[in-house]
This record gives sequence, structure tokens and C-alpha cells, in this order.
Amino acid sequence: MTQERAWAGRFGASTAAALDNINKSISFDIALWREDLAGSRAHARMLAATGLLTADDLAAILQGLATVEQEFESGTFAVLPVDEDIHMAVERRLTDLVGEPGKRLHTARSRNDQVATDTRLYVKRASSALVAQLTRLIVMLAERSEAEAETLLPAYTHLQRGMPSTLGHHLLAYAEMLARDVVRIEAAAASADVSPLGSGACAGTSLPIDREMTARALGFSAISANSMDAVSDRDFVADFLYAGAMLMLHLSRWGEEWVLWSTAEFGFLELDDRVTTGSSMMPNKKNPDGAELLRGKAGRTVGNLAGFLTTLKGLPFAYNKDLQEDKEPLFDTHRTLTVSLEVAAVMLDAATFRRDRMAAACTGQIDATDLCERLVRAGEPLRTAHHQTGRLVRMALERGCELRDLPLDAAREHCPRIAPEILAGLSMVGLVNARDVVGGPAPRRVREASRLLLQRWQPRLNEPT
Ligand code: ARG
Repeated sequence: MTQERAWAGRFGASTAAALDNINKSISFDIALWREDLAGSRAHARMLAATGLLTADDLAAILQGLATVEQEFESGTFAVLPVDEDIHMAVERRLTDLVGEPGKRLHTARSRNDQVATDTRLYVKRASSALVAQLTRLIVMLAERSEAEAETLLPAYTHLQRGMPSTLGHHLLAYAEMLARDVVRIEAAAASADVSPLGSGACAGTSLPIDREMTARALGFSAISANSMDAVSDRDFVADFLYAGAMLMLHLSRWGEEWVLWSTAEFGFLELDDRVTTGSSMMPNKKNPDGAELLRGKAGRTVGNLAGFLTTLKGLPFAYNKDLQEDKEPLFDTHRTLTVSLEVAAVMLDAATFRRDRMAAACTGQIDATDLCERLVRAGEPLRTAHHQTGRLVRMALERGCELRDLPLDAAREHCPRIAPEILAGLSMVGLVNARDVVGGPAPRRVREASRLLLQRWQPRLNEPT
């Protein structure tokens, strides 16, 4: 068995354990085994096509890689101390299995273009899986919005009740955020969709290679235009980390709202036992841990982005080992997004909305803006109507009543144009129905917006990932 590292030739002594500890990446980049095997297969076929490998060598390599694949799949692949990273581990094992042909696989290739290739393939694969998860969640939100199109709920600003709105409208806001996340993740996947293979270590190779062939075989849409850039470009990792951090920020806002909504104080929501946990000391407790962790896990993804951007800053061309620091944030953000989207879907499913509590919260003069607009319709200038309505709000607060309960005579003192039907018509349902504007909370608009979302996203449910 190979006990030497691939680059041992020009070295006398072995590396210090301390260096090994900081340098070896196999413990985490083993996650790239699928991509590494795909890249090696494509590369080997290309080498055979251009005459750099014989048909027999290619057959031996492909057969050896199939065994390696089977070992990874069954969890029996044995990592040895010489295996610095996934690339060396695969090549070392292949050579153990098939001998000399294995030693030809790395012809016209460097780990620098290899790792860039693997990482790009990983980002593409991770992105399409995340888009599939997001699509399911958007569809769930749109369906739920349709069902809650008429459910009254206060719309808040500054976490103070602002205007009566609908729960369907609120849920659609979550769906819109997530739809933008799909765009960002797809943009990251598009920036990863360029093949660096054939760039070599930094400045290409003199051997006859066919870069288009490997790019096609690996499903890349284009090949990189500059070998220096190709081995040092990690923009696509930063793009993915940014898209991921943004998505987690969105989930954290949703999570925070549902933490609040499930408190006794709000009481808008009950989360069932699937997404809640108990306390080891307080037998009464039912805690919204799922929602809290959506909020909490956003932090690490922001950290992954900030940390990796800092790694990239000031790096000279071309490849530097600093770039190996792309993997852990990338894998961590990917894992965090996957589990968070899973939990968000269960949480949505696990939610029972307390419609009575939501409707009951539509009090406290939150119809003031609508009243003001009714006065505008009656011919009052907006600024005057706003001031007059403010007076009526004060009056209602002093009397401890709602605007619609103000005696007409008293209201007229501040508000000469107020007609009996203006006050009497202040029903929450009526007011929400009247806010019949594109993007607004009127049930008709909510149903329309839900249907549009479903039309756009439902067909994507069947896309292959
Ligand atoms: N493990 C390395 C990484 O992830 C692979 C490339 C190393 N290249 C080198 N010449 N040392 O970046």
C-alpha cells in the first residue's frame, strides 16, 4: 500500500504533526467524494480521448473508481494517515487497487483545478436540493395563505398594532422572501457553473487536453477563460454563503415572529409537539425550540459568510492554501440551510392558528388609518383628516372605547365632515376588504396572490434535483 504522499519526492523529512493537524482537510472534504469521483471519471475519459491514456488504462481506472465509489457508499472506505485530502485519498486508493494506471490519472491535472471543480459541482448540487426544499415551502405557504385569506390579524409596525390585515397576507410575505432566496441561490449556482478543469496548478498544461469535453461530461455550461483566475476564484462560494445567510435571516425573522405568536401574551399560534420541547425542571413548559433555532442558526451562517470573505481578502494569485478554508463554512451553511428548511416545513404543518385571538387583537383604534382615508374620500385633505383622526383616537383612548363607538356629536367637534355611516362602517372585515390593492391584504387579493404563487411554483415541484 502507498505510504508516501504524492508530493514526497522533493522532501527529506516528514511534516510535523502540528503541520499535519492544520493542513489536512480529509476530515471535512471527504464530503466531496461524489464530486471528486465524477471529476476523475470525466478527466480520465478525456485523457483517453486525447491519447494520454490507453483504453486499457482507462478501463482499469474506471473499474477502480467504481470500487472506490462502492466503498464510500457502503462506508467502508478506509482513510489512511497519508491521505491529506479527498483528492489524494481517492488517487491513493485507486492506485492501491489498480496499480500503474492509477498513477496516470493525475496527468495534466493539479489538485488546484481539481478542488475548484469539485467545489463548484458541490455548490451546484447543494443549490438544486435547496431550491427543491424552498419550492415545497413556498407552495405550502401559498396553500396556507389561501386557507387563511379571510383570517383577521393586526399588521404591526414597530411591533405595535398598525392596521387590520389578514393572516393570509402575512404568510404570503414569508413566501415572497423565500422566492427571492431561490433567485439568489440560483445565481450562486450559475456562478459555480463554469469548469476550471484543465487550468492545472495555475498556468495550464503543455499536454493535449480537451477542456470542453470534461466540462460537458460534468454538466458545466462553460469553461473558465483564465487559468490563474480559475484556480483562485471562490466567488461562487461567497455567493452561496451570502444567499444562504440571507435565507437564514429570512427564516430567523419568521422564527422570531412565531416565537412571539406562540407566547401566552400573543396567543396567535399553537405549535404541536413535533416542533416543541419540554423543560427538565418546569413540567409546565412547552418551548418553541424549532422556531428559536431558525432564529438562532442565522448567526452561524452570517459568521460563515463574514469569515470566508475575510479569508479571501488580499489573497495574491493564484491558488493559496487559505482557499482550503472555503469548505467548512460552505458545508456548514449547506447543512444549516437543509435542516432549517426541513424544520420550517414541519413547523408550518404543526401550526394551529388561533383565529379568535388574532381577530380579538384587531382592537385599539387600529382602524384609524382607514377612518382617515374615509374622511379623505369625503373631501378632507389628507393632512387635515390625519390630524382630525388623531383627535378622535385621543378621544377614544380617554373614553376607553373604539373609534366606531364614539358619539357622533362628540366626533363632529373635531371632525366636521364625519357622517354617521363613516363611523358605523368601521368594521374590521369591511376595512380589510376595502384595502383591495395589488399586494394588499383584501382576501380577494390574497387568494389571487396565492394562486399566482402556486401557478409559478407548483410546476417546479417535479423538477429533478
Ligand atoms: N485540499 C486542498 C484544498 O481544499 C486541495 C488543493 C491543494 N493544493 C495544493 N497544491 N496543496 O484547497
